[in-house]
Amino acid sequence: MTDSAPPHAEGGPPAGCPARATGVRLSGLAYQQTPSELYRSLRRDHGPVAPVLLDNDIPAWLVLGYNEVSYVTGHDELFARDSRRWNQWDAIPADWPLLPFVGYQPSVLFVEGDEHRLRAGVVSRALDAVDQMELASACQEIGDLLIAAFAGSGQAELMASYAHPLPMRAVVRLCGMPASGVDTEELVRDLRLSLDAHEGEDPVAAYGRVQARIERLVKEKRAAPGDDVTSRMLLDPAGLDDEAVVQDVITVIAAAQQPTANWIGNTLRLLLTDDRFATTVAGGKLSVGQALNEVLWLDTPTQNFIGRWAVRDTQLGGRQIKAGDCVVLSFAAANTDPQVWPEGPAGAENSAHLSFSNGEHRCPFPAPQLADVIARTAVETLMEHLPDVVLGVEPHELRWRPSVWMRGLADLPVGFTPVLH
Ligand code: HEM
Repeated sequence: MTDSAPPHAEGGPPAGCPARATGVRLSGLAYQQTPSELYRSLRRDHGPVAPVLLDNDIPAWLVLGYNEVSYVTGHDELFARDSRRWNQWDAIPADWPLLPFVGYQPSVLFVEGDEHRLRAGVVSRALDAVDQMELASACQEIGDLLIAAFAGSGQAELMASYAHPLPMRAVVRLCGMPASGVDTEELVRDLRLSLDAHEGEDPVAAYGRVQARIERLVKEKRAAPGDDVTSRMLLDPAGLDDEAVVQDVITVIAAAQQPTANWIGNTLRLLLTDDRFATTVAGGKLSVGQALNEVLWLDTPTQNFIGRWAVRDTQLGGRQIKAGDCVVLSFAAANTDPQVWPEGPAGAENSAHLSFSNGEHRCPFPAPQLADVIARTAVETLMEHLPDVVLGVEPHELRWRPSVWMRGLADLPVGFTPVLH
């Protein structure tokens, strides 16, 4: 069922490293299609903290327990964000696929302590000034345009034509760029490439273009500030320099796009495949809000997050963790931890899930609320325009993208009565 590593004879991981015991690869088709089964078997065989192997068989600890994930995120002094601590860097090749979001960058994501509090405060204040009603109507407008492009055909692939571009356009607009136009289209494409490159694409070059575009934006906003997130970050009394603002605007855009897109996609899938919700679309029992919340419990977009690095030797879930070990936070496993939810997760009724993480580096206030506005408006707008939308394939034919981080569909083909304008 799981893809196991070869036995560690000579040349295997050194004594004390997380992969020494067994080493289950956190990849492969079975993992992609049914990660919950892998989490179940890891929990059964190893308890709340399991030794796993990332790409290139790089060892790490996967934290599956709700209490253990909460402990790690609540103890920065033991499990910190700066990935330069990792004791595995010597084994990691320059083209390691997880590098773009694990390699240290001087952004809010990786800085620690006072510097982090300063930078996260700037992001929070800039996001807090967003008018949520205006954001909802902007998302509706963006949704209307995207739907108009395919509504006449009676069919669509919703991940590429709706779930991904909608939050991206919404967030670039929040940051002070037009939501459409050639420039924005290029940025949208390059961000996708830098986060989710396919065969033959060059994520590093794409990231370079994103950086150059955001540098230009920051320069423009420094010269002529507007009512947008970038300008507010530049004008914040914390007085960040342009370089820091460039890093953090890229983080805000990247951190917003992928999880929100997959939140939309996973919610549409639930609505289109589950009878409890299918009746809703036509006239209703369970609401879009309940579907959005259920997804955060059972199919959360950021299923695993890499991660935290042990500051010193310590213990976690009965394991000896060495200084510099990497700890991967499995929000998906924690949300369904039978120790905490013996009857199954509390589901749509509450929001005690860990999908936005916890502690110092959690998804910053009010980002989860903004994400909710974007995702809810996206789903409702689609349902309003295409009330008879149905899945274009059998539910079991849907394929998930090969990502350790994200739980997101590769495609979501649908059919509906063509809408002629
Ligand atoms: C408007 C949309 C969003 C924005 C602007 C946003 C922004 C951010 C930022 C700036 C960070 C870095 C925080 C730090 O390191 O201090 C972050 C982290 C994170 N976000 Fe979000 N986010 C958005 C949507 C989402 C969604 C939809 C999810 C998942 C349901 C999510 C889950 C997370 C997680 C798990 C982290 C990592 C926290 C950690 O390291 O413990 N975010 N987000």
